[in-house]
Amino acid sequence: ENYFNKKDILKGKKVLITAGRTEEAIDPIRYMSNRSTGKMGYSLAKAAKLYGADVTLISGPTNLKKIDGIKTINIKTANEMYEETLKKYDNMDLVIMSAAVADYKVKEYSNEKIKKQDDDLTLKLTRNPDILFELGKMKKNQYLVGFAAESSNLIKNSLGKLKRKNLDMIIANNVSGFSSDENKAYIILDENKIIELETMQKNELAFKILDKIIEYKINL
Ligand code: CTP
Ligand code: CA
Repeated sequence: ENYFNKKDILKGKKVLITAGRTEEAIDPIRYMSNRSTGKMGYSLAKAAKLYGADVTLISGPTNLKKIDGIKTINIKTANEMYEETLKKYDNMDLVIMSAAVADYKVKEYSNEKIKKQDDDLTLKLTRNPDILFELGKMKKNQYLVGFAAESSNLIKNSLGKLKRKNLDMIIANNVSGFSSDENKAYIILDENKIIELETMQKNELAFKILDKIIEYKINL
């Protein structure tokens, strides 16, 4: 498909995208994180830019190059991502939360390097904010899109997240696509509107997602 034909379809629209993983420090040299590469979010940001949108990208650590023409805010932790997202949220037309946010952080950060013990070590974890859930509660005119990474009951669990987080759309994928360049996804608007996509490159999937958003909410 030639996406260049639709070059200005999102002109004047403000789009906020989160991407990548978060890193939750345990001590000065250690952190907890996940295998997200940021590829999906960066592909979405590039696609939205090509469609003429005014794009802001809030990015966790990745190995990806900064994209010219996209305001990029780099963060590390879930709490930092939450703060930056809230600052931008009110003005946005479209918000896509593709970041793999850590659900937990250590309850007590250790200023000293943790020494190895003779026996098992127990770390106490505490919940991070669910950014998307909070955005859903505060939603006004924003079109709000989430992702769901599942290892089982993909559709059922994703529908649960769509409802609980007050989303307009959720992209459901199996965790097998997590650190890969390609992905098989379902675009879900409600229980009666579930669009199964072929396995495809994340670059291509980004355009498919935007096209569906535009199709269902052209005046977003
Ligand atoms: N998300 C978020 N803040 C978190 C965790 C998740 O904003 N602390 C967002 C993700 O960016 C994604 C969506 O919520 O768009 C679903 O993330 P996922 O990890 O699949 O679901 P959770 O609600 O965290 O539930 P669980 O991990 O238990 O399946
Ligand atoms: Ca999670």
